[in-house]
Amino acid sequence: MKWIVIFGIILSTTVTFSASDAKEKTPIKQEAAKFIKCNEKYVSECYAITKRVKRGEPYRTNCSIVNKHAWGNNVTMRGEIFIDGVAIEVIRGQVCDLTKIDWVYNFTMTYSNLRDCPYKPGYYAFFNIELPPKNMPQRILNLVKGQFNTKIYYSITKTGETIIEISVTLRM
Ligand SMILES: *[C@@H]1O[C@H](CO)[C@@H](O)[C@H](O)[C@H]1NC(C)=O
Ligand SMILES: *[C@@H]1O[C@H](CO)[C@@H](O)[C@H](O)[C@H]1NC(C)=O
Ligand SMILES: *[C@@H]1O[C@H](CO)[C@@H](O)[C@H](O)[C@H]1NC(C)=O
Repeated sequence: MKWIVIFGIILSTTVTFSASDAKEKTPIKQEAAKFIKCNEKYVSECYAITKRVKRGEPYRTNCSIVNKHAWGNNVTMRGEIFIDGVAIEVIRGQVCDLTKIDWVYNFTMTYSNLRDCPYKPGYYAFFNIELPPKNMPQRILNLVKGQFNTKIYYSITKTGETIIEISVTLRM
């Protein structure tokens, strides 16, 4: 379930859709990602926003950080999905290794200013992401259905010290 990778740098805000159709009882709550931790030893200006331009348009997310250090395989990404309250690790990988996954590479090329890994210190952003991402392979989308809390961590490979922690609720 390598798709979790790309949520590594996503969004924030809680959005509630109220169904205009009275037959639809349950309001659908979509909670976009938020930064839970932004370790200022390593990063600053963690910023995320989710909104839509107008009704009927999809919600889109921008998020960004400023990296004080280079990120290569000395930074590890980990993704967890919560099923019935239990955290299940679905992916773990070193940052540059993850970019070797075809669609992850395409996704970052299309929606971010990330280019060659390792990434030098500087400002990095994802723009106009839709969740779940459109180019996420369908076979991955089919693995899970429903609404799930997910967490993404980036940490120092050697020590496990957290750099950023993001939580996202995804509807699949
Ligand atoms: C995200 O950034 C792009 C480019 O700066 C901008 O056009 C767009 O309106 C932003 N979207 C949100 C949700 O802020
Ligand atoms: C990762 O390694 C590079 C190259 O040695 C170093 O410059 C950078 O500070 C390291 N990044 C972190 C987050 O420790
Ligand atoms: C990635 O982009 C390349 C070039 O546009 C394309 O040939 C390839 O099929 C894409 N791969 C995926 C997994 O989307």
